[in-house]
Amino acid sequence: MLYSEKVMDHFKNPRNVGEMQDADGIGEVGNAKCGDIMRMYIKVDKDTQIITDVKFMTFGCGSAIATSSIATEMIKGQPISKALELSNKAVVEALGGLPTHKIHCSVLAEEAVKAAVKDYYDKNGIKYDEKCYAKGSCPCAHEFDHKGE
Ligand code: FES
Repeated sequence: MLYSEKVMDHFKNPRNVGEMQDADGIGEVGNAKCGDIMRMYIKVDKDTQIITDVKFMTFGCGSAIATSSIATEMIKGQPISKALELSNKAVVEALGGLPTHKIHCSVLAEEAVKAAVKDYYDKNGIKYDEKCYAKGSCPCAHEFDHKGE
């Protein structure tokens, strides 16, 4: 089968979908080639620096929805510093794999989480390592043709 059961499950029953009015951090990223857009909202407990709630809105392909859904589960309840370490590889593994030409969709999920964390850090004057936001961490971005399917 092209997609794992887990991918199909998260695509059909995405977790933590929606908007968050009182978010502490919002990250919005897009892929210019396919036009998919992902928005990630996080709520952070200021004392513990734990992510207490996550929501997402994704306008995009099934893999983009599945990867953002599982990403919300992976960072919810975690320290915000852990969310910054979330890699697209870990997202793909958690989903039981993705077809090669869909790996880039998981990159969007990683970027959306990082953008939300960055927004939180910026709003609260917290310093962070710029290297965490280095571009080009995704080998597939250059290797695969993005057909938006
Ligand atoms: Fe655009 Fe998956 S993120 S096709």
